[in-house]
Amino acid sequence: MSSSLPAAITLPPEKQWFTRDRFGLFVHWGLYSLHGQGEWNISRKEADFDGYRKYFDHFDPDLFDPRDWARRARAAGMRYSVITAKHHDGFCLWDTQHTDWKVTNTPFKRDIIREWTEAFRAEGLRVGLYYSLIDWKHPDFTIDIFHPQRNAPDVAELNAGRDMDRYRDYMKAQVRELLTDYGRIDDMFLDFGYAKQSYRGLPGKGPADWDSEGLTALVKSLQPDILVNNRLGLLDRLADYYTPERFVPESPPTRDGRPVPWCAAFTSSETWGYTRDDQVWKSTHQLIQILVSMVSMGGNLLMNVGPNGRGELEPRAKEALQGYADWMRLHSRAIHGCGYSSFKPPADCRFTQNGRRLYLHMFSWPFLHLHIPGLGGKVEYAQLLNDASEIRILRSGEHIAGDGEGLQGLDRKPIPDDTLTLILPPRKPPVEVPVIELFLKE
Ligand code: GLC
Repeated sequence: MSSSLPAAITLPPEKQWFTRDRFGLFVHWGLYSLHGQGEWNISRKEADFDGYRKYFDHFDPDLFDPRDWARRARAAGMRYSVITAKHHDGFCLWDTQHTDWKVTNTPFKRDIIREWTEAFRAEGLRVGLYYSLIDWKHPDFTIDIFHPQRNAPDVAELNAGRDMDRYRDYMKAQVRELLTDYGRIDDMFLDFGYAKQSYRGLPGKGPADWDSEGLTALVKSLQPDILVNNRLGLLDRLADYYTPERFVPESPPTRDGRPVPWCAAFTSSETWGYTRDDQVWKSTHQLIQILVSMVSMGGNLLMNVGPNGRGELEPRAKEALQGYADWMRLHSRAIHGCGYSSFKPPADCRFTQNGRRLYLHMFSWPFLHLHIPGLGGKVEYAQLLNDASEIRILRSGEHIAGDGEGLQGLDRKPIPDDTLTLILPPRKPPVEVPVIELFLKE
């Protein structure tokens, strides 16, 4: 059984690393790591920036060691990373000339983007920058649905003096800095538009507010090979890839029926920014399932960690990356360079494919036999990927175990010729998600 799709919309060759590499590290880091309640806290609490200032005055991540983050990402099989140069609170992790609300004015003083980009490149990872289109701190950014002051009684007067034209200039000047002063940047993650949402007469924001076309043109003129995501609201024309968030698609996302490049962003716990009391950490098994599921649908995974206020990855984040590292050491070739397969996987399994190699990822371990309709006669050899031990294929005419011993007299369906039957070891191999590598015949 197979479900073929029309030809995919592909990236130009200089950007194809993205759909080959498949797996990246998202880093949400900023002042919000000090209150440890996630990066949306100031909006959720409708708090003001006077109360937030204390985090600015105490930002001093003395244990910041981007080489350590990069090494862990690399070991986890991640090939690129995206960091929040500026999030919705407007705080800038680089030495921008366009605001005082920046890391080099905190006690820490160091330019984080400079050190981070250098460290990640040195470990062989590509680098991307997240830049928030939303900016609750900027005096010209008009108050809207997500703004901490959305319920201020005098919101109309407050907005009267704000000038989005000036804000657009500010964004462009900052993006210019980021894409001029920090070497080659591979990915630009601009976040986000909400044109259709309004609140108490306050309109949402979208392409016209961001000047999405102008901004994208600027990005591409400064770094011709950079990828730009689709959160500016320019769905079909200028964006290179789509960014579903925290959900696993059931089928490859398409545009006009054709699969598109995409990358899902996911949290390893509940929030993006460091949350001290977060209890909702995903298990290693879940983390691997998420990665496999994305690649099996032809997408990428950008898995997030939120370093803490001392600049460290907390033990649970390290554990999450280590879980990936242990699995990817043995299974990376079922991820890198792989994508959607038109073969339909059996229950609790996913396929990824790279040419003639088809990878069967098993989220649960069945007893002894696994039947895969659609693959009968098509596989030349099968092995477990973790130890390259052969997995026997039931040859046609051969009987399965137990056959004929006590089943006489029952109506039994023969295994159809188009079905591949694998004979599994009785015990699950000692890896989180076992993978069987199937070598397809020419
Ligand atoms: C959303 C959230 C944000 C997070 C991002 C990650 O846009 O606003 O906090 O940075 O998704 O994809």
